[in-house]
Amino acid sequence: MTERHTPRVVPLVDQRSAVLAMPAAGSRIVATGSLIDQRARPLRDLRISVTDRCNFRCNYCMPKEVFDKNHLYLPHSALLSFEEITRIAKVFVAHGVQKIRLTGGEPLLRKNIESLIEQLAMLRTPEGHALDLTLTTNGSLLARKARALKAAGLQRVTVSLDGLNDAVFRSMNDVDFPVAEVLAGIEAAREAGLGPIKINMVVKRGSNEHEILPMARHFRGSGIVLRFIEYMDVGASNGWRMNDVLPSSEVVKRIHAELPLVQLDPSQPGETAERWGYADASGQHDRTLGEIGVISSVTQAFCGDCNRARLSTEGKLYLCLFASTGYDLRTLVRDHAATADLESAIGHIWQDRNDNYSESRSAQIDDSAPAQRRVEMSYIGG
Ligand code: GTP
Ligand code: 5AD
Ligand code: SF4
Ligand code: SF4
Repeated sequence: MTERHTPRVVPLVDQRSAVLAMPAAGSRIVATGSLIDQRARPLRDLRISVTDRCNFRCNYCMPKEVFDKNHLYLPHSALLSFEEITRIAKVFVAHGVQKIRLTGGEPLLRKNIESLIEQLAMLRTPEGHALDLTLTTNGSLLARKARALKAAGLQRVTVSLDGLNDAVFRSMNDVDFPVAEVLAGIEAAREAGLGPIKINMVVKRGSNEHEILPMARHFRGSGIVLRFIEYMDVGASNGWRMNDVLPSSEVVKRIHAELPLVQLDPSQPGETAERWGYADASGQHDRTLGEIGVISSVTQAFCGDCNRARLSTEGKLYLCLFASTGYDLRTLVRDHAATADLESAIGHIWQDRNDNYSESRSAQIDDSAPAQRRVEMSYIGG
């Protein structure tokens, strides 16, 4: 049933060193928690990549042919230290960020990640609230780490899982990693209280589409929210083709045919996923059966209320998942910039932001190679 990935992999062009000039020091911006960009979008969500390494080689993200033994990962000295990350995160929180997601690569590979979580868990919003502190993981180390993560102050986790069938899963991660270990990790996260747990399944036509229904059946009624993600043209190395995308409308149709669904209202502004609840016999949402989400950045872009900023492993600020360049915050921090200067720089950067890649891309979806040389998702985080 599974098809080995197509050999159409594009060699990596390293965009990591490209930087955007910091905005000229004009009028000073003080953090008020109510920044908006050129499209009137607030800043609410900060995704922090803590490592560019991963022990999986999902072909839609880090294809083996590109991320091989010759690939140069960042040296440790290039990575932001936990203190540097916390200092930057604090400024973002003063500017209105309410959710922080740790990503990678695989964030649990970063040594002593619990210590970073402890520091971030102490941050408070201007209104005095704790952050929504979460992490996206491939689950391979979760069984070992779930309790320590919870004890450090992590609230919840999202686990990537592209199928339940062991052979399909091993072929998706491309390092022959068994699905049972990830399922054990999810169970450990549940026992540790790292919920609500979400599962992210990237759907690739012809590779794991037959896992959609088994996954839906497995997680229905479990309290875990399964989300189906359209395979995106992110990065520049995965050889993306429109043909490999299974539109979310098709995912919903297939599930609905066996397990009836009703559409639910968004739970928060700027949400990536469209929510669908499992219906009872009268067609109403049955909360005990739970819900699924579909993330359709290819067929139904959601840039209109995108409130997400991304901090790369080495401290560059990216304003879009599809950006090719970022702003070098690490230099500011290592040059001992005053907090007020950091605050003002980030304020100007967000105020000038105008990105809406997926929206403008959907206007002309085809198989063409990316116009710009974009950074990889393993470098800026999902
Ligand atoms: P929750 O707060 O748990 O709902 O998180 P989230 O919806 O922000 O989700 P998550 O970080 O799990 O993102 C899920 C997937 O959506 C990512 O892995 C990406 O594939 C995609 N995604 C997330 N953010 C963006 C974005 O800003 N743009 C695009 N195009 N895709 C995104
Ligand atoms: N398309 C969609 N999602 C992707 N991810 C990585 N690469 C892609 C891609 N090409 C997301 C997956 C995974 C997370 C770490 O990054 O959701 O769960
Ligand atoms: Fe690793 Fe996640 Fe990328 Fe897969 S999708 S290679 S698990 S970072
Ligand atoms: Fe935001 Fe860029 Fe994704 Fe659009 S494509 S939702 S602007 S990150």
